[in-house]
Amino acid sequence: MAHFIVLLGPPGAGKGTQAKAICEALQIPHVSSGDIFREHLSKQTELGKLADGYIKCGQLVPDDVTIRMIGDRLKQPDCSRGALLDGFPRTIPQAEALDDLLAKMDAKIERALSLEVPAEVLIERLSGRWSCPTCGRVYHEKYNPPRQAGICDDDGTPLIQRPDDRPETVRQRIEVYRSQTEPLIEYYCQKGVLVNIDGTQSIEAVKQDILTSLAGVR
Ligand code: AP5
Ligand code: MG
Repeated sequence: MAHFIVLLGPPGAGKGTQAKAICEALQIPHVSSGDIFREHLSKQTELGKLADGYIKCGQLVPDDVTIRMIGDRLKQPDCSRGALLDGFPRTIPQAEALDDLLAKMDAKIERALSLEVPAEVLIERLSGRWSCPTCGRVYHEKYNPPRQAGICDDDGTPLIQRPDDRPETVRQRIEVYRSQTEPLIEYYCQKGVLVNIDGTQSIEAVKQDILTSLAGVR
């Protein structure tokens, strides 16, 4: 059976950090809308250039563009086992479109994990975040440092900071999350698939809570 899991949470809540453990546990691919947009931008595709205009000011990329991109990704053969959706859906129309896409695959969302973290913690997390542009692995200079400063443990690539992690853009992203994405918590609660996770704990404790919440899924 295919397992489709949604990872919800404000910018900096730890979605990308926790993705690997979930994907390994369920043997499903990690589908991150933000990572796909950034990959397009690094290749300078039309989609990448369009998305960048929104990302750099902390706004959402329009629904039609985003839904089409994720729809194409879910049609890839590796998603026949399911997928971990990180950062998608982010609006009610995206959530409804996802339900329609999955219904056509004879599947549905099994769990929506909501990582809860207050705003002041998010700003500190994002200002200390470094990521690997090659493999996407995420570090924090204080909470999750690489073995050698500025270098990815896995592939030796020099780490980078995301341009949208400046405090003023982060504040805008948090505002957009509150107004456009938070209503999805109620949407998935109504469907009986929501699990709230305390995202302020250590990375390891959050991981354990998530894996416990997925026990029935495996
Ligand atoms: P996206 O890339 O999805 O960014 P985001 O949702 O803002 O989330 P982040 O990736 O910033 O945070 P995260 O939760 O993954 O945290 P992380 O694990 O890295 O989207 C970027 C942009 O693309 C959007 O603003 C929008 O413009 C566009 N976009 C994307 N999807 C879209 C959609 N569906 N529709 C429209 N537009 C879309 O952790 C953060 C830091 O904290 C790291 O340094 C980490 O090491 C540290 N950390 C993590 N957990 C802990 C912990 N427990 N304790 C201490 N530190 C921790
Ligand atoms: Mg992320």
